[in-house]
Amino acid sequence: MTLRDRLIVIIGGTSGIGRAVAEGALREGATVIVGSSSAAKIEAARKALPATDVRTVDVRNEESLKEFFAGVGAFDHLVFTAGDWGPARGMTLDALDRAAAESLFAVRFWGAVGAAKYAVPHLRETGSITLTDGMVAHRPRKGTAVSTAMAGAIEHLTRGLAAELAPIRVNAVCPGAIRTDVWNAIPEDAREERMRAMTKHLPIARVGEPKEAAEAYLYLMRGGYTTGQILRVDGGGSLV
Ligand SMILES: NC(=O)c1ccc[n+]([C@@H]2O[C@H](COP(=O)([O-])OP(=O)(O)OC[C@H]3O[C@@H](n4cnc5c(N)ncnc54)[C@H](OP(=O)(O)O)[C@@H]3O)[C@@H](O)[C@H]2O)c1
Repeated sequence: MTLRDRLIVIIGGTSGIGRAVAEGALREGATVIVGSSSAAKIEAARKALPATDVRTVDVRNEESLKEFFAGVGAFDHLVFTAGDWGPARGMTLDALDRAAAESLFAVRFWGAVGAAKYAVPHLRETGSITLTDGMVAHRPRKGTAVSTAMAGAIEHLTRGLAAELAPIRVNAVCPGAIRTDVWNAIPEDAREERMRAMTKHLPIARVGEPKEAAEAYLYLMRGGYTTGQILRVDGGGSLV
């Protein structure tokens, strides 16, 4: 199976991993629509991906999702990489605020549920949905209990949807640390040190690049006999 002449929708495709998936799919001859919620990222993506149709969608809002997919019409593959980092990130249980903890699920989990729901009426039966979680699902640390639960929930959502939506295939990519803008919140010196500390014990002792994570999404779109799978792109982090 090839991505040539396929129509691929990437929610979260205006930056980071999603943008790298868009670049890879364009190289294979696909037509790509990317969507996200902020004017700044949409503007940046229009400049960085001139061959791509860039649209607004806020996955926290069902009406926005419904309108977005109605505007897209029939298509082949949905990639969901939308993510935000809410206030509950790194909060230990004693300090955990319930509303902040619930908000962790809004984009990455409930956004994925809503995107799947409104995409399916327009998805071709030969198509696929690829979601995104993260290695925090498998390597919890102090302060990540709710993030670990949220990422794990995405993996189980993937399996549930794969059974429910067949023959549409549903898979997920589980990245380890990938060098995207997300890390820019940490000042440059501290960032490099933090990345080194996080990755020095890995078999591939460095952070991953967005295009390396993108390969997993490209495979899962092409892999016509693969469904209900979680593909880790973690530099071998699962082994240590
Ligand atoms: N980078 C890593 O190290 C890493 C590691 C493990 C897992 N992940 C996961 O991989 C996914 C992508 O991460 P990334 O590093 O590529 O992040 P990123 O560069 O920040 O990309 C996130 C994308 O999501 C979009 N988005 C955020 N809120 C949205 C909303 N309400 N509606 C629609 N789109 C929304 C953003 O655009 P707008 O702001 O314009 O909406 C942006 O396009 C995330 O789920 C993240 O948790 C990343």
